[in-house]
Amino acid sequence: MEIVRSVAEAKELARAWRAAGLSVGLVPTMGYLHEGHESLMDAARAACDKVIVSVFVNPIQFGPDEDFDSYPRDLHRDVAICEAHGADAVFHPSVEDMYPAGFSTFVEVEGLTDALCGASRPGHFRGVCTVVSKLFNIVQPHRAFFGQKDAQQLAVIKRMVADLNMDVQVVGCPIVREADGLAKSSRNTYLDPQERQAALVLSRAIRAAEQAVCDGQHDAACVRAIIEGTIAAEPLACIDYVQVVDGLTMQPVKTIEDSVLVAIAVRIGTTRLIDNFIFEGEPTCS
Ligand code: PAJ
Repeated sequence: MEIVRSVAEAKELARAWRAAGLSVGLVPTMGYLHEGHESLMDAARAACDKVIVSVFVNPIQFGPDEDFDSYPRDLHRDVAICEAHGADAVFHPSVEDMYPAGFSTFVEVEGLTDALCGASRPGHFRGVCTVVSKLFNIVQPHRAFFGQKDAQQLAVIKRMVADLNMDVQVVGCPIVREADGLAKSSRNTYLDPQERQAALVLSRAIRAAEQAVCDGQHDAACVRAIIEGTIAAEPLACIDYVQVVDGLTMQPVKTIEDSVLVAIAVRIGTTRLIDNFIFEGEPTCS
């Protein structure tokens, strides 16, 4: 497996793959890899001839008071995980190479980014779309893999790819959870044992909401109330948002029908965690 540290090298490697007629899969990450990231790599491995994983903690998607400096990093461990999951290359550029002096071009998806995480984290999706555009231009992958865990991010990137006629197929992959239900996240490492226990309230609330919808409760306000009630019972948890929105437009809906996203963001102490489910219609209920 190759470790590529410069934009120029990554371009060259991917160009050679494409020239040889090989399909290229990109898995963009910020590193500190866990089973969620691994599931994306496995999906890429199954679908593409060559798999490249980017590991880059993207400074421009963090707000001034957010955790860019403290975001966990362990390249050595990440490289071993990528290798174990059959990646062909890890792309780990420097901030200076990605954002050299004079950098002044940003990609902004409007509308979709106004709500949910976009409202709580101003400028976040501008940073995400800019770095993902750059990664797409550098690697020019045939397919790129993203997790449903960040449901709004996935919708925003699909919109960006369609709007800007980018030649890449965006593949969404299901949420991977811990055995007790907590959605895997690099930020789970911030939680102390008591907070880790309290964080279960997210998946508990999402499960309760999903169950209610599957049992026939299609009123968005009632489903939100179920979630808010569940979270209110956990003293360490503080709601950032509880939203029931159209899965494509991210606009609030009153009635839960096909393709509705139920998404939450909750602070456990100082750690902000997210979770969600998508209701595709009755047949998905078990
Ligand atoms: P990061 O948080 O490292 O996540 C990288 C990818 O892994 C994203 O597509 C995310 O949705 C997916 N992922 C994270 N946890 C997951 C889980 N529990 N189950 C399934 N997939 C999961 O998202 C980012 O980085 C950045 O914003 C990035 C797209 C790399 C741009 O900087």
